[in-house]
Amino acid sequence: MNFIPYGKQFINEEDIKSVVETLQSDFLTTGPKVQEFEEALAFYCDAKYCIAVANGTAALHLASLVLLSENDKVLTTPNSFLATANSILYADAKPIFVDITPDGNIDLDLCEKELQKDSTIKAIYGVSFSGNMLNQEKLHHLQKTYNIKILEDNAHAIGATYGGIKAGSCTNSDIGIFSFHPVKHITTGEGGAITTNDENLYNKLLTLRAHGMVKTSDMKPWEYEMKELGYNYRITDIQCALGLSQLKRLDEFITRRITIAQKYDSAFKNTIVKPLYICNQRKSSYHLYVVQVDFTKIPITKEEMFLKMR
Ligand SMILES: Cc1ncc(COP(=O)(O)O)c(C=O)c1O
Repeated sequence: MNFIPYGKQFINEEDIKSVVETLQSDFLTTGPKVQEFEEALAFYCDAKYCIAVANGTAALHLASLVLLSENDKVLTTPNSFLATANSILYADAKPIFVDITPDGNIDLDLCEKELQKDSTIKAIYGVSFSGNMLNQEKLHHLQKTYNIKILEDNAHAIGATYGGIKAGSCTNSDIGIFSFHPVKHITTGEGGAITTNDENLYNKLLTLRAHGMVKTSDMKPWEYEMKELGYNYRITDIQCALGLSQLKRLDEFITRRITIAQKYDSAFKNTIVKPLYICNQRKSSYHLYVVQVDFTKIPITKEEMFLKMR
C-alpha cells in the first residue's frame, strides 16, 4: 500500500562522507567524534554539559540513576513512549501518573496539587510531547517552590523553544534527554543524549556510562577501579559522525516539519479533525502532528478513521 510513513530518516551525501571518513580513521568508538557531537549538541541547546549515549532509553536510565533513590515517588505522564516511566522503575522508584492538559503534556497544576498533598514526592518526569515543551513558567515555579528533581524528556523536542528557552537547555530542570532514533528529527541510527548544567551530575553520568569504572590516580596510569555498578551505554564515533552531519541540517528539517504542520492546520480547519495545537501558537519542533477526533459525534469508527487517514 502506498502511504506516508510514520517517520523516515533523511540521509545525504555529506552524512555518508562523514561516516566513511570515521570508518577510515583510527577511532570507531570513544574517539574525537563523540566529544565533538556532545559539544555541538550542548552549544545547540544552550546547556553546559552533554553526554551522548547508546539510545534515548539509556539516557533515561542513567538520568534516573543519578536523580532518584529506591522507593522515590515520581510524578510522570501517561502520554508518552513507555521508556519514560520504565526508567523510573529501573531505579527502583515509583511512577505516579498524573493526567495531561489538552496539549498532551503533563498537567503541572495537578502536579502542584500532588506536591502539596504529599511532601515525600521526589521528582517530576515530564515529556515535551510531540515536540512541544512543558510550560516553563510553571516548571520554574515548581522547581523554586518544592524540593524536587525535574527531568524533561525531550525525545520529541530537539530544536523546540519556549519563550526563547531551548529544549535541552535545562533552564528549569535538572536533566534533559534526547533520542536519535531514525523517526526523530536527526538520527545516529540508535542514539541518545543527556543534557545538564550540573557538574556533579555530569561527572556521575560519565562514570555510569562506562561501567562505573574510574582511573584512580594520574601517578598510576595502569590502575582502574569500579566505584559503582555502571553500564556500557557508550555511543560510537561512527554514530556521532552521522549525528554531527545531521545536526548541521536540524534547523532545515524543523522548518520543513513546520511547513507540513501548517498545511495540516489549514486542511483540518473546520473539520472534525482537531489538532492538539495550531502551529503558530507554539514553537513546537513537531516530532508528531497529533489530532483528536470525537468518535461519539460521528458515524465512523476509530479503525475506519485510521484507514481513511492512512
Ligand atoms: C518520549 C520518548 N522518550 C524516550 C524514548 C526512547 O528513545 P530510544 O528509542 O532512543 O530509546 C522515546 C522513543 O521513541 C520517546 O518517544
